Amino acid sequence: MNKNDNETIKNIYSRYSCRGFDKNKPVSDDNLDTIMQAALTSPSSYNSQNWQFVVCQNTEILDRLQNIALENAKLQDITVYQRLKSVGGRIFYDAPVAVFIARPNNEVNLASVNSGIALQTIALCATSLGLNTLMCGMTRLCFSGKNVNELYSLLKFPKDFVCDLSILMGYGTAKRKERELDKSKITYIK
Ligand SMILES: Cc1cc2nc3c(=O)[nH]c(=O)nc-3n(C[C@H](O)[C@H](O)[C@H](O)COP(=O)(O)O)c2cc1C
Repeated sequence: MNKNDNETIKNIYSRYSCRGFDKNKPVSDDNLDTIMQAALTSPSSYNSQNWQFVVCQNTEILDRLQNIALENAKLQDITVYQRLKSVGGRIFYDAPVAVFIARPNNEVNLASVNSGIALQTIALCATSLGLNTLMCGMTRLCFSGKNVNELYSLLKFPKDFVCDLSILMGYGTAKRKERELDKSKITYIK
């Protein structure tokens, strides 16, 4: 089948990591509801659904977290700090929304895997609604300093949950780059 004929396949191919958002163009509540309900359909090991999503539309909080991430990088990993500085010190790229995904701190029932799958569900649903996304592993830097407990409670994460990942979404100002598929990563055995 030609991928251009199939809406789902087209959607998968058109998702890309967007590193620039229009901060003045919010995501509607209707779209956010659709996307977050799609997230809840994600498969999880033993149907554990061992995640908590925090949809943050408060850009003051996002700015604060971004500054904290930069400070933590400076103290903890100078290479990461320099890389961040080279992109203007931004980890959230002016996104109007970040969805933080938290999971139990004991990694029970493949919690990290479940989180990753849920984030891809969010990414694909958002893409199909004309939005752009970026999965943000740099989120871990926000929660790696001494004020982590205060930040966890600010974001209302459940007790004994941890967070090191988020997905940003909004209307992109950064275009996609051409991608090359590395077919050597697939082995077929017949
Ligand atoms: C778990 C995870 C964390 C990521 N964290 C970041 C990040 O913090 N910053 C960033 O710019 N890109 C991040 N990315 C995006 C990857 O760099 C991107 O997926 C990869 O370069 C392929 O590009 P594409 O998504 O446009 O195909 C992350 C991707 C994943 C899956």
